[in-house]
Amino acid sequence: MDVYGLIGNPVEHSLSPPMHEAAYEELDIDARYVTFEPAEGEASDAVEAAETLGVAGLNVTIPFKQAVLDAVDPDDLAARIGAVNTIDFTGDRPTGHNTDAIGAVRALREHDVTLDGSAVVVGAGGAGRAISFGLADEGLNVSIANRTVRKAKALAGDVPGADGHGLDALGDLLTGADVLVNATSVGMDEDRSPVPSDALHDDLAVLDAVYSPIETRLLRDGAAAGATTVDGAWMLLYQGVEAFERWTGRDAPVETMNEALRGEL
Ligand code: ATR
Repeated sequence: MDVYGLIGNPVEHSLSPPMHEAAYEELDIDARYVTFEPAEGEASDAVEAAETLGVAGLNVTIPFKQAVLDAVDPDDLAARIGAVNTIDFTGDRPTGHNTDAIGAVRALREHDVTLDGSAVVVGAGGAGRAISFGLADEGLNVSIANRTVRKAKALAGDVPGADGHGLDALGDLLTGADVLVNATSVGMDEDRSPVPSDALHDDLAVLDAVYSPIETRLLRDGAAAGATTVDGAWMLLYQGVEAFERWTGRDAPVETMNEALRGEL
């Protein structure tokens, strides 16, 4: 039996175990997906211990995505983002990858969103950083808007071709934009949007990284404006799909994983 897992703190309410185990069952893979909660400062030890014990692959979540960089060889994207959420133990050394970035890109692509033109990413934390790199690598011109302008400008300095702004610039930035991503926590368990509704329009694809509630205020406003909307569960799904495919070398049963995930929300 293969063991896959997740390290983070807390991980109690993670949706990854049911999502991955549904995939193992569907494809008749003899594997389990378990969660581990190391103490702060013990991320590298946890990765080494997992390798020693023969764990086949690890996901990494908050607050360890940066700390595990010391314990793995990051691929180019994970190194540029400076965060790892997926570790593969099949080589001589553990390799680190960032499927959050690819997950956002794939969530948009699977909704027939054409990835060219310009994108506005709201938020300059960990999620905003991964998503900005993902979209820039696809060739989109990325503008980052954040409550703390300094953080938006700092992130924009790292992302190829990006520019950084305060939230007050959102109206102007969105006028000609093709893609909008909310990478802030605004809207999580609250009926609030980080973007003024009158800035949304029908040429826009809107992805909300928030998945609780599944239909956020931003997505409702987007739908009302005629935009294409993509909820945060799609991003969560595709980061898991990418990790599954990397670990097993098989095409993920996306429908099954999606049903398992949405069944938990
Ligand atoms: P994550 O890793 O999920 O991205 P984070 O690094 O804590 O989490 O980042 C949270 C993001 O949500 C930041 O962009 C934060 O803005 P600041 O950099 O100004 O703190 C944004 N955010 C959180 N609460 C917000 C609020 N009430 N209004 C606007 N932005 C908010």
